[in-house]
Amino acid sequence: MAEHRRDGLSPVRLCVIEGDGIGHEVVPAALAVLSSTGFPIEVVHADAGWDCFLERGMALPPEKLELARQCDAILFGAVSSPSHKVVGYSSPIVELRRQLDLYANLRPSHSWPIPTSRPGIDLLIVRENTEDLYVRRERSDGHTAVAERVITRQGSERVARVACQWATRRRRRLTIVHKANVLPETCGLFRQVALDVAAEHPDLEVEEMLVDTMALRLVTTPERFDVIVTTNLFGDILSDEAAGLVGGLGVAPSANVGAHALFEPVHGSAPDIAGKGIANPVAAILAAGMLLDYLGQVALGDRVRAAVGQVLASGPHTPDLGGTGTTKQVTEAVQSQIGAVH
Ligand code: NAI
Ligand code: MG
Repeated sequence: MAEHRRDGLSPVRLCVIEGDGIGHEVVPAALAVLSSTGFPIEVVHADAGWDCFLERGMALPPEKLELARQCDAILFGAVSSPSHKVVGYSSPIVELRRQLDLYANLRPSHSWPIPTSRPGIDLLIVRENTEDLYVRRERSDGHTAVAERVITRQGSERVARVACQWATRRRRRLTIVHKANVLPETCGLFRQVALDVAAEHPDLEVEEMLVDTMALRLVTTPERFDVIVTTNLFGDILSDEAAGLVGGLGVAPSANVGAHALFEPVHGSAPDIAGKGIANPVAAILAAGMLLDYLGQVALGDRVRAAVGQVLASGPHTPDLGGTGTTKQVTEAVQSQIGAVH
């Protein structure tokens, strides 16, 4: 991840948006782990999400967006968004990605020592984060509904550059995923631009793959992939699939980078388990690990990941991983592992 440039004098200011549902449970867990690392962070809380919309008529109040903009980085939980249209509501996470120009979404998946994780996986999906069908230009006359899909040269080029940087630092393999055989204009543009950017990196082994083939190969031979770059919707779907290979949404973190940086678990607000104290905090904790990397504290990020690995190997586990542990127990176990390797 592009490292954050700091003057080294002032403490890092972190904007924390818990959001809705289990966001209120997993974000405090991630903050507790961050504080266990001893790295000084000044936390500034901001509310956003569905509950905020119900209370204040705004899902992302402008002053909170401004606050987020002024901080060094953002830690985000999850928000609830209705599946039907609600006048005046738009998802704050989609809005934050757009407003702060967080154009690349990094979603790593690698094997963990738990029964629900397959071995040998270490891949990174780099998802374009600002365009595609997520520009939300939809219309309907009640009989025919149309959504516009926007792919630009600039959007494709910058996400491809991020993917190439990561592939260069990792195992030097890049897979460009598209559906240009059916969508020669939109996917065709993304494909060509990504191939052109990749051609500037002769040290990379580059391949292209249709998205349906990719969905299949992720299940059959996930070990062969290193960095995968794709458009917004395909990346959204494929990254959940990849998370499913290594233990599910409870262990899947992500980073949104570009003009700013926002770290979040891949999962949503999980209304089915919210308030029960059993949400898996690992995804949010790993997102905090990615935040430490971004802040130039890779050794601390590694320590967080090692502590998570220890706890996943030994337990306690939350119910999504087949255990009976609580959010608090898992968080405290991770904290004590970090203490143990201090
Ligand atoms: P979800 O990720 O909230 O939940 C899917 C399933 O995974 C549920 O059974 C849930 O209990 C489980 N799960 C998720 N995270 C977990 C965790 N940390 N520990 C244990 N189990 C966990 O996705 P769903 O149900 O499709 O959406 C629920 C709400 O979340 C919707 O309103 C949706 O719009 C929103 N959402 C928000 C996202 C965000 O803020 N970035 C991303 C995805 C969904
Ligand atoms: Mg998703």
